[in-house]
Amino acid sequence: MSTPAQRARQLRDEIVRHNEAYFVHDTPLIPDADYDALVRELRSLEESHPELRSETSVTQTVGAPRSVVFSEVRHAEPMLSLDNVFDEEELRAWCDRVAKGLGRDARDISFAVEPKIDGLALSITYINGTMAQGSTRGDGRVGEDVTDNVRTIRNLPTTLSGVRDGRLDIRGEVFITKEDFHELNERQRQVEGKEFANPRNAAAGSLRQKDSSVSASRPLSFLAYQLVDLDSTLAFESHMATIEQLRAWGFVTASEIALVRGVDEVVARSTWFEEHRHELAYEVDGVVVKVDDLALREVLGSTSRAPRWAIARKFPPEERTTRLLAIEVSIGRTGRATPYAVLEPVLVAGSTVSLATLHNQDQVAQKDVRPGDLVIVRKAGEVIPEIVGSVSEPGRQREAAWQFPTTCPECGGPLVRVGDESDTYCVNPACPAQQLQQILHFASRGALDIEGLGEQRVAQLIGAGLIADVADLFLLSAAQLSTLEGFGELSASALIQAIEDAKSAPLSRVLVGLGIRHVGPVAARELASRFSSFEALAEASLDALEAVDGIGEVIATSVFRYCRDPETVDLVRRLRAAGLELRETKPTLEVPQTLAGRAVVVTGAIEGYSREEAEAAIVARGGTSPGSVSKKTYCVVVGDAPGASKVTKARDLGIPMIAGSAFVEFLASGTWTTTVE
Ligand code: IVH
Repeated sequence: MSTPAQRARQLRDEIVRHNEAYFVHDTPLIPDADYDALVRELRSLEESHPELRSETSVTQTVGAPRSVVFSEVRHAEPMLSLDNVFDEEELRAWCDRVAKGLGRDARDISFAVEPKIDGLALSITYINGTMAQGSTRGDGRVGEDVTDNVRTIRNLPTTLSGVRDGRLDIRGEVFITKEDFHELNERQRQVEGKEFANPRNAAAGSLRQKDSSVSASRPLSFLAYQLVDLDSTLAFESHMATIEQLRAWGFVTASEIALVRGVDEVVARSTWFEEHRHELAYEVDGVVVKVDDLALREVLGSTSRAPRWAIARKFPPEERTTRLLAIEVSIGRTGRATPYAVLEPVLVAGSTVSLATLHNQDQVAQKDVRPGDLVIVRKAGEVIPEIVGSVSEPGRQREAAWQFPTTCPECGGPLVRVGDESDTYCVNPACPAQQLQQILHFASRGALDIEGLGEQRVAQLIGAGLIADVADLFLLSAAQLSTLEGFGELSASALIQAIEDAKSAPLSRVLVGLGIRHVGPVAARELASRFSSFEALAEASLDALEAVDGIGEVIATSVFRYCRDPETVDLVRRLRAAGLELRETKPTLEVPQTLAGRAVVVTGAIEGYSREEAEAAIVARGGTSPGSVSKKTYCVVVGDAPGASKVTKARDLGIPMIAGSAFVEFLASGTWTTTVE
């Protein structure tokens, strides 16, 4: 057991090490949640042992040492950090403290609640209305001069209209949208053979480049959240008024900022953000609650580290560390062998995780995770939990590197890797694991939606020799089922009825259910609405397939080959003989088809619509909403914090861009009156 003094020293050393890794090298060693836990432990030690307190302790300072690459910039007004709270109770306690500090009832205080963007803080100085300098936060007093790199950020105004004199510092967050991050990482993987751990690291690494042409090639965006009026040339009374001014100058600000009153509304809006966090264009790790009235802020003041008028409410972490117990391999419907991690159960983003994907052989090797390691697990929204990497534990003896198996754990057949693909496959078509997954996929909600066909049932039917593929489902009889364990007369006839109903399912759902490589629900819908029947699809030339909106060479080739595969021909013959219609019936047109045949790309957040809703609204009007801009694109709807690469591509190709705020009008008319630059 260590003494409190020893433990405090140990914690400080560790925190300093993590600060350097995070702030200087842009490569954190542990998840933020683990870091926060270290800081909290140190803070509570210092609170219970006053003799351990010191002004230079990492609990009292901001950020970290600067790198030597950039010259120093002394901030005219310090760039403070924020104190954190981690749950509703702590948030309520903070609101009450503010009210007490102001000698008011919390119900009479207005708070702005905004997303806490997970990027890095930047201060941009405008002198006499012209951009003059950009600097990172550094230790809060002195930051790094990154002006040349800041000039490459595309969504920044270089001049502030109407400002003739005085100095203004515009502060905000540099970030990379989730959309841009995926494209950037794809490129990084191909060109550099390595990826960024998350959008924040990518943004930090991209902004802090020695060579500004590298920054320029990265899709950096800026979101403004603070205006520091150093010469008091503008007289603002509230935070919201400064946000309006920032918007008027052309800065992107968080469109979801809400002005609320009292503790309950603060909590409600914070919960709203937590529930909608994955719909935002950028990653957020919490919300920031700020007193709106600037005069009240003066009354509250700041500590050396953080203002008393603002607080960060952190969301439950989406990354945690835990012990990797074993690596196993599962076989999917295409025979793909996916390695996955068996973990010591851990609470991530509100649910317990004990399995996480490791994607493929190369990922295991690249991440070098081995049984016994302490690993970082990530679970974001609906996405399957995955292993990010392992945490180094100096002094611990690791096991030997894990070897990918050479035979299928389910059927014993060989596992093979084809060409330069990173995936490994079980190539035995009779592999029961593959059959099971194919049938489950066919019956799943996104495909034919056959109720009552869960994993256990399908396994039972395969085991009894009644089915081996999806066509066999339609030959089952209630009499056959009722001989099986667990089936009564009612459940047998209910399942037969559900299978019967599936025969008239639209072609698009059957295409999804067949599991053609690269064909997801969007492509299936587009193909089915263009060709109407499987016959017509099977006869289509490669050119005809590629001419469909949203269908590129990869999907077209996959569909073309699939339709000509003798196994497909036989399967489709049997499905048709069993009574499947394999046709797409046109939906009844209740909504005017203002976008018939047009490809409309959506980027950024549109007020009042989640991304899915915006895309569905386009599809409902006869259009399509592909994920990328091409010369076939009709127009691009540009919401808040749009993907920089989509905007650049649209500009390069001369595709019209319309504002997200004009979306409703656009849906109704299919056209626009003004475009954005
Ligand atoms: S206000 C003096 N607002 O969070 C108050 N910060 O953990 C300055 N951040 O250094 C910060 N989103 O980099 C503020 N809407 C937001 C923010 C935000 C992200 C970052 C910022 C800050 C850090 C503190």
